[in-house]
Amino acid sequence: MSYEGKTFIITGASGGMGKATVDLLLEAGANVVGCDLNVGKLREYEQNARFLAVEGNLLEEVTVKRVFKEASEHFGEISGLVNIAGIAQPATPIEEVSLEDFHKIVDINLTMSFLTCREAAKYMKKQKSGKIVNIGSVSKTRPRPGLQSYIASKGAIESFTKALALELADHQINVNILHPGPADTSMLGKFTKADGDVDEARKEIFEKSVPLGRLIQPNDIANSIKFLLSDEASMITGTVLHVDGGRNL
Ligand SMILES: NC(=O)c1ccc[n+]([C@@H]2O[C@H](COP(=O)([O-])OP(=O)(O)OC[C@H]3O[C@@H](n4cnc5c(N)ncnc54)[C@H](O)[C@@H]3O)[C@@H](O)[C@H]2O)c1
Repeated sequence: MSYEGKTFIITGASGGMGKATVDLLLEAGANVVGCDLNVGKLREYEQNARFLAVEGNLLEEVTVKRVFKEASEHFGEISGLVNIAGIAQPATPIEEVSLEDFHKIVDINLTMSFLTCREAAKYMKKQKSGKIVNIGSVSKTRPRPGLQSYIASKGAIESFTKALALELADHQINVNILHPGPADTSMLGKFTKADGDVDEARKEIFEKSVPLGRLIQPNDIANSIKFLLSDEASMITGTVLHVDGGRNL
């Protein structure tokens, strides 16, 4: 698999899975544009000519436009977009979920990917090539109580991905979704209910729910993203890839 000369835009690049993906793609020789609300964790790549950090809120249309403009001015063609940025929901009974919180979860987990995919399509259609990977969640397939808003956003991003895969197929653009299982990042603790014990939930609820017996590591996700971005994955589109140690079963 060759990644040299290719350019990938990664959202949520400072987070657990995002940072692992940035690390892996840079190691493979690609150019990487890392976007996040705060890019401080990516400072180690400041001097790397194949890395560009773009800080900002990707729910703002101007920020999304800036990301793609800077990426193409800096590196040329945009080979791929990976939408990793997301937000958790602490397990909460529906009658206690405010409309504001519901909107926030749907905005960050769905609307933001609509905005980045819309911008990506403009560039990729002209190139007649491109790969988009969206990140969902195994909870879409195996729901848990109290996560109704989060799961709705992840179900919608799966449907959106499939619709876009069909819409963009004529332009040789692949669009796939990857559903991680419970992963060893700081987000995992944020799914625990308000008065819950985070460490106990990690072990007793999340780790025990994975048939392969351990939490998913950020690198497990990054490796599969790397494959979906490769030329070898050119005939894969509209596919749901579970990277979850069997949790979806
Ligand atoms: N951790 C898990 O157990 C798990 C399981 C299934 C799915 N997922 C999904 O995987 C993805 C990555 O999760 P993670 O564990 O790496 O989370 P994380 O919290 O470590 O990273 C998420 C990143 O998204 C960024 N972000 C949030 N809102 C943003 C905005 N408006 N603009 C720009 N950046 C923004 C955050 O700053 C953060 O760096 C998410 O979509 C999450 O829903 C996580």
